[in-house]
Amino acid sequence: MEDKLQLLEEKKQKARLGGGQERIDKQHAKKKLTARERIELLFDPGTFEEIGMFVEHRSFDFGMENQRILSDGVITGYGLVNGRTVFGFAQDFTVFGGSLSETHAEKIVKIMELAMENRAPLVGLNDSGGARIQEGVKSLGGYADIFYRNTLASGFIPQISAIMGPCAGGAVYSPAITDFTIMVDQTSYMFVTGPNVVKTVTNEDVSSEELGGSAAHAQKSGVTHLRSLSDVDCINKVKQLLSYLPQSCHDKPIQVDYALDDEIREELNNIVPPNPNHPYDIKEVIQHIVDGDSFFEIHEEFAENIVIGFARIAGRSIGVVANQPYSLAGVLDVNASRKAGRFVRTCDAFNVPLLVLVDVPGFLPGTDQEWNGIITNGAKLLYAFSEATVPRITVITRKAYGGAYDVMNSKHIGADLNYCWPSGEIAVMGAKGASEIIFKKEIKNSADPAQEIINKEKQYAEMFAHPYKAAARGFVDEVIEPKYTRRKLIKAFAMLEGKVKERVDKKHGNIPL
Ligand code: HXC
Repeated sequence: MEDKLQLLEEKKQKARLGGGQERIDKQHAKKKLTARERIELLFDPGTFEEIGMFVEHRSFDFGMENQRILSDGVITGYGLVNGRTVFGFAQDFTVFGGSLSETHAEKIVKIMELAMENRAPLVGLNDSGGARIQEGVKSLGGYADIFYRNTLASGFIPQISAIMGPCAGGAVYSPAITDFTIMVDQTSYMFVTGPNVVKTVTNEDVSSEELGGSAAHAQKSGVTHLRSLSDVDCINKVKQLLSYLPQSCHDKPIQVDYALDDEIREELNNIVPPNPNHPYDIKEVIQHIVDGDSFFEIHEEFAENIVIGFARIAGRSIGVVANQPYSLAGVLDVNASRKAGRFVRTCDAFNVPLLVLVDVPGFLPGTDQEWNGIITNGAKLLYAFSEATVPRITVITRKAYGGAYDVMNSKHIGADLNYCWPSGEIAVMGAKGASEIIFKKEIKNSADPAQEIINKEKQYAEMFAHPYKAAARGFVDEVIEPKYTRRKLIKAFAMLEGKVKERVDKKHGNIPL
């Protein structure tokens, strides 16, 4: 037995070395951790169980039969993250550049299926040169096997992709289907075609970082939800994200302990400026509504005119969607609608209740917006809210104008409770624009048109720039003093804990993609 145990230990040692010490040193020199080091960081100490450590590729082409490396470039298994079961894989760049072979794909698929059967989240740590070039179509088939399962698992178990090195070509489509993508600054990039192909096809000179680095995807494309400073930061963010999510769509997120106090937040009375055209930071409002520092912003640098993220309220996990008056006056545009629409779907899929803070002057006008499909994209957000069955509460802090009033989780599209601050203005449009249209003749025929505009604007504002007409119709359930907002929300989300809402029986809806 002794010699057999020794053989086993030798094999394990060999597997742990991956592509060898020289390549591990290269990985470290690039400020990247190895796949095994990343796995150690992700899972609670001593809890990771590896599956398929001795898997080898089956290729005989290009002399590959002489280059078989145990684990075949991907570490797969399961363990506990903050005490809860999570399945994961980490691609090992030291083994053929983490490239995906047929067997590498089989290992990932096995973990995905286990994750689904056992209803637990899946985390992928990606660091790969793409399809294993020596294997050709077998590798392409492997990718498709993964994409297919990503799709089957979508909305069933949370799926998170960390991009911790290259992720190029068709390989990008697995992270793209998952719920969240997190990139590491400077060491990761994602693109369908790299700088060389771009140069050939469009004659543009662009670096990998410019084309598909974390900044490009955090700010321009919105492909990544989060960016991180280092591998350690990235894995911490993965864990943080998991803490707000349930194990599967059949679960609720965990509720952390919270001892209730009076929950009054005086600061909230002084955030909205007296002049309705002056901006303020909606994140300040969020900070005073949610528990301590629980707000975890998603897509922070993309479409800054809408703020989204997870938070906790009296220990309950919630998703926050809020117009941001600091950026473009909080208007809804194509990117803001896409960003928030996707987030609403994610929260709804995983039973995370929604808090929606509204200060929206309307949709952004212009040819750019119309030609880029503000109609279809705005409809995504409208559809996502309308279809969501999780508890949904709206607080109108100031403006709720036009179609954007309807879209931003109005009662009409199924919100459970709508509160409004006394600073609320709920109308078809702003007082100036409205009076210029409906009092056009009176203004034109007036002896002093400029003064008449001011008079009519005042008259319109007195009639509509307040929440009481909406409250009179029950479109707003209660006008509340801002300082009581948190207290109201704690009670309301607790009351909605058991909400059950059935949808009509159909195959699936047809969200305007
Ligand atoms: C096999 C690969 C590989 C690959 C890298 N390696 N990519 N082996 N298949 N796709 C190997 C290298 O031969 C090298 O082996 C080691 O990994 C490290 O690679 P380097 O080039 O030395 O590293 P670096 O300079 O950091 O460059 C990384 C890289 C580059 C940018 C990823 O390796 C690269 O461009 N690779 C090819 C990328 C690519 O074209 N992939 C296919 C895309 S198409 P040694 O033995 O020297 O350590 C695709 C289709 C998917 O993925 C479709 C899905 C639908």
